[in-house]
Amino acid sequence: MALIVGVLKETAPGERRVALTPKAMDLLVKMGAEIWVERGAGEAAGFPDGEYEARGCKWAASAQEVSQRAQVVFAVRVPLQGFHSSNIVVGFCDPLSEPRQMVTFAETGATLFSVEMVPRITRAQSMDALSSMASIAGYKAVLLGADALPRMFPMMMTAAGTIPAAKALVLGAGVAGLQAIATARRLGAVVMGYDVRAAVKEQIESLGAKFLDIRIDGSGEGEGGYAKQLTEAQIQSQRDQMAAALKQQDVVITTAAVPGRRAPILITKAMAEAMAPGSVIVDIAAERGGNCELTRAGETVVHNGVSIIGPVNIPSSVPYHASLMYSRNLVTFLKNMVTKEGALKLDTNDEIVRESMVAHGGKVVHPRVQALLSPAKVNA
Ligand code: NAI
Repeated sequence: MALIVGVLKETAPGERRVALTPKAMDLLVKMGAEIWVERGAGEAAGFPDGEYEARGCKWAASAQEVSQRAQVVFAVRVPLQGFHSSNIVVGFCDPLSEPRQMVTFAETGATLFSVEMVPRITRAQSMDALSSMASIAGYKAVLLGADALPRMFPMMMTAAGTIPAAKALVLGAGVAGLQAIATARRLGAVVMGYDVRAAVKEQIESLGAKFLDIRIDGSGEGEGGYAKQLTEAQIQSQRDQMAAALKQQDVVITTAAVPGRRAPILITKAMAEAMAPGSVIVDIAAERGGNCELTRAGETVVHNGVSIIGPVNIPSSVPYHASLMYSRNLVTFLKNMVTKEGALKLDTNDEIVRESMVAHGGKVVHPRVQALLSPAKVNA
């Protein structure tokens, strides 16, 4: 049987991305797949129906029809309902923060692959949707900061006087942070970057920024290249040194995250109050609780003249390129599960398949999600 892939029109409020662009559709067609697209799916991202039609897609009038016709369903944000047991659904579903929703999904009987759980191994780099979206968030956060700042970023020598370059500090130098540093540099700011993982110092410097050297005892690096939770003493020492650095900045972009946990507070209320009036904090971690104590997700808070911007779903505000990158990630992910003959094969001996499979056969199958659902955790 030929592979049939369906594409949903996103329904989450404000979601403008689409899980498969017409260009990425070409790659699936080359693999012999038949594509069913829910009408209007790509419109908000800048991909009109005509572009899919020109490539020979079939139209589904509703999400229900997509899941009836297709075996594999691509989504940006996976709905919890509307699937049946022969569907294989791939998308964002936040299993570590919303484990109970995974139980609801599992009840449909469908198989669920979470793009958040794709292991960060070299072979899976081109499937890494978290990295794709983080790059976009880092870039756009700087633009949001520049827009809210009552100053300009670049140094300018004009007949009306010399304007000094803006000073920007990026906290957390993972994928988003490094992209924020690069973007702020391109706009002409003098940039500093900071991360608990000492290994990123070189990466920050290679982008033409300075490393903010905050000394903490011990390492902040955990397994798999991610950060680990810091101790109370480490956090206090980090805060004192951070407060001094923050006073010097015009724009602060915060991107610090620890997988599966609330974002760490790096800027307390007192630290924000000590910043210069007119300065701006853009908190990319807003959706995970925020890196600044004053952040409110989806809002801009102005406190003592300091603007604290808490953007949500930043990638959706760059829907064209976010969709392009995301659909490439999904196509590569699917390709890894398709045999040379064009048949789908869910091989759980493959680390990528095993690690990203959250629900299968009516059950939540991922050990980390199962652990979060255990009675001890549920009652905690
Ligand atoms: P993330 O979004 O989980 O975290 C962002 C950054 O916040 C990280 O650099 C982390 O060290 C930092 N952070 C956490 N707590 C902090 C604190 N208290 N103070 C300051 N900074 C703090 O991470 P992301 O961007 O998704 O990836 C992190 C790293 O993982 C990458 O830089 C890379 O080294 C590795 N990675 C590896 C991949 C691969 O091998 N295929 C793919 C993507 C990332």
